[in-house]
Amino acid sequence: MSDLRKINIDGQVIEVEGAMTLIQACEIAGIEIPRFCYHERLSIAGNCRMCLVEVVGGPPKPTASCAMQVRDLRPGKDGEPPVVKTNSPMVKKAREGVMEFLLINHPLDCPICDQGGECDLQDQAMAYGVDFSRFREPKRATEDLNLGPLVATTMTRCISCTRCVRFTTEVAGIKQMG
Ligand code: FES
Repeated sequence: MSDLRKINIDGQVIEVEGAMTLIQACEIAGIEIPRFCYHERLSIAGNCRMCLVEVVGGPPKPTASCAMQVRDLRPGKDGEPPVVKTNSPMVKKAREGVMEFLLINHPLDCPICDQGGECDLQDQAMAYGVDFSRFREPKRATEDLNLGPLVATTMTRCISCTRCVRFTTEVAGIKQMG
């Protein structure tokens, strides 16, 4: 049974399935939301916080768009569709804060990293981040994981998006990673 709902995203009113998440509704509206942990074929973890948007009339804080369904939004007081903003000052500040936070422990060795130039973190830091960090403490040290002869790990580069954990558990069916 279909449960179509209207939603206003950045001034554009669209009608989507109520079970869709805000990030999916934004995609339908042609608006790109940055994300790290979300993948449409994996369960939702909601742990990177890069997909934050502003729900007008909701709690006065940004909302993770991958973890909120369209049907969970309340209409306006005269029954108008709920309003979501993806380009407001609140969202910009939230994205900058998340990028600064994610990069706290990330080594800034893009020039020697094999993924340099093809890295989502690098691209999103350029697009949504800030050019400074308030972090002065030593960076976290971690031991690399031994995942067998075919997989190399550099754990200081991990931002704990848990995509690898969800992929191995949900797709490959092995539960050794956590
Ligand atoms: S993509 Fe929504 S929290 Fe990571």
